[in-house]
Amino acid sequence: MLNLCKLPPFTFPKGFLWGSATAGHQIEGDNVHSQWFHEEQTCTEPGFERSGKACNSWELYDEDIRLLKELGHQAYRFSVEWSRIEPEQGRHDQGALDRYLDMLRKLKEAGIFTCVTLLHGTHPQWFEELGGFCREENVDHFLRHVEFLVPKIAAYVDSWLVVNEINLGGILPEHIQLRRIRFKALARGAEVVKRFSSAPVSSAHAFVPREPLRPDDELDVAAARYKDWLDNGFFFHGVRTGELVLPGQDAEFLPELKNACDFWAVNYYHRGLVDSRKGNLIGKKFRFNAFNTVLGKAMDREFCPETFVKVLGRITDKPIWITENGFCADEDRFRIVYLMQHLAAMHEAMELYHADVRAYFHWSLLDNYEWGSYAPKFGLAAVDRQTFRRTPKPSAAFYREVIRANGASGELFAKYIPELSQYAQRDHFEAAGKLSVLTQA
Ligand code: FCB
Repeated sequence: MLNLCKLPPFTFPKGFLWGSATAGHQIEGDNVHSQWFHEEQTCTEPGFERSGKACNSWELYDEDIRLLKELGHQAYRFSVEWSRIEPEQGRHDQGALDRYLDMLRKLKEAGIFTCVTLLHGTHPQWFEELGGFCREENVDHFLRHVEFLVPKIAAYVDSWLVVNEINLGGILPEHIQLRRIRFKALARGAEVVKRFSSAPVSSAHAFVPREPLRPDDELDVAAARYKDWLDNGFFFHGVRTGELVLPGQDAEFLPELKNACDFWAVNYYHRGLVDSRKGNLIGKKFRFNAFNTVLGKAMDREFCPETFVKVLGRITDKPIWITENGFCADEDRFRIVYLMQHLAAMHEAMELYHADVRAYFHWSLLDNYEWGSYAPKFGLAAVDRQTFRRTPKPSAAFYREVIRANGASGELFAKYIPELSQYAQRDHFEAAGKLSVLTQA
C-alpha cells in the first residue's frame, strides 16, 4: 500500500546536489549551423514544428540564471553547442565562445555547480555532410573540437558529460555500428577532457530498462534480454571492462573505454516493453500506465518508478548522478506526482541496493523544444512563446521545498496535492488515475 500523502519523511545524504538540466538546441534558439536546424527546414511531417527561437536562452541566459537561483537550484546541466563554436569546419566563432564564457562565469558567481554536456543531440551541419558519426574517421573532428573548447572553459566547469545518450537506437546493423562509433567518440573525448580538467567526467546514459511484454513468453524474454544488452548492457560492460561487445560484430578491447566514466550519469524516464512479434521489437506501453498528458501522441509516458529502483540497483559500483528525469504534462500536478514517486524510488534504491546516488538534475528547467514539437511540456517553468517570459509552476515550488529539506515527505506532497490524501491506493497507477478524474471534474 502506498499513499504518497502519508509517506514518512525521507532525506538524502549531506552534500546531495540538486538541479535541473537543459540542452542548447532545445532552449537557445536560432541554432542555425546545426544539422537539426537544417533538417527542420525541410521536414514535412504533419504536426512537425521548427525550433525557431526556442526559449531564446541565447539572449536570455541571465534570466535563466536568475530563475535557477529563485528556484533554489544548486546545479545546472546545459550543453555547449559545437555548431556555434565551429560553424564552418576549422573556423571558430569567438563571439559564441565569449557568450558561453560569460554565462559560465555568471553561473559560478551565482554559486551554481556547472555540468557541461559537449554533445547533446546536435552537431555542425558541415560535420553531418562529411557523414557525421556514421564514419569512424570523423571522430577526429569531434576530438579536435573538444581539444579546442575544453581548455578555454575548464576553469568554470565543475563536471563534464562528453556525449548524451549514445546508447539508444534500432536493431539493424547500421544502428549497432553507430553505437560502436559513438562509444569510441565518448571514450576518446573523455581522455581529451581529462588532459585539461580534473573535474569528474562521464556521458549521460539513456537508461531504458527492457522488459518482456509477455512475462512468460520464451521469445519475449530472450528478446528483452537481447535488447537490454543492445541498449544498456554493452555500455556498462564496456566501461567496466574495456571490452566492446555488440551483436554481429567481433569484440574489441579498447583500454580507453575503461576510464570513460568517473561516475554513472543516468537519464531515466520510463521502461521499455519488448515484443518479439514486432520487427523492431518495440512493444506498446501499458495503456493504464500512460496518461493523456500531452496533446497528440508526441510523448505519452508511463509512470513506472519501480524500474527506476531496479535500474539503480544495477549500477552500484560507481557514484550515480541522475542527469535527467522528468515528465511531460500540460497538467502540472502530474509532474509533482511523478517527481514525488521518483524521488521516493531513488531513495528506496539507495536503501535497498546501497546505490550511491549523489546528484539529481530535473528535466527540465523550462518548457523547451522537444525535438520536433513544443507540445510536450517538461518544464518547471512555462515559457511564453511570444515574449519568452518564464513563469514558474507549482511543481517548481514543490521542488524548491525538496531541495531546501534535502528530501521529501508525505506532508509536503499533501500540501501540493491534497486531493490524493484520502486514497490509500494500492499503487501509484491507481493514484494517478484518481488525479486525472479529479482534473476532469
Ligand atoms: C531525453 C533527451 C532530452 C529530452 C528528454 C525529454 O532523451 O536527452 O534532450 O528530449 O529526453
